Amino acid sequence: MNAKMVALSMAALTCLAASETAGATPPLTAPDRQTVEVSLPAGRTTFPPGQGSELANAHCVICHSPGMVLRQPPLSFEEWKAEVNKMRVVYAAPLPADKIEEIARYLSAINGKP
Ligand code: HEC
Repeated sequence: MNAKMVALSMAALTCLAASETAGATPPLTAPDRQTVEVSLPAGRTTFPPGQGSELANAHCVICHSPGMVLRQPPLSFEEWKAEVNKMRVVYAAPLPADKIEEIARYLSAINGKP
């Protein structure tokens, strides 16, 4: 045991003694452990198949589920374009600009309005 180790041991003993004299430290016991089961709502992990779905699967589930997109009210092509662009500009989705229209076309095919 070198001098440093002795000093550390002394410090540890001093702390221990201090906490015992303070009398406030409850004895260390293992916390009660219980097993709980949680069932999460079923949700899809990919977009429904269709032209452009692979783009949506590649770019739109990085940050949230497809449900975030599919549960929206129907949007027009122009509105979907704006929405996809918002994901890029506001939330920094790593999405090539030249894919915006194709994704918007797909989204308006599966959840669109005129
Ligand atoms: C970089 C992360 C990221 C990516 C990638 C992403 N989003 Fe989002 N998206 C968000 C965030 C953050 C929200 C807001 C969540 C909230 O309000 O709780 C959001 C919300 C949405 C909403 C809900 C309406 C809204 O505007 O808040 C839609 C629709 C949506 N995203 C579509 C898409 C589509 C389509 C893609 C693929 C092109 C996409 N997102 C990719 C981050 C992302």
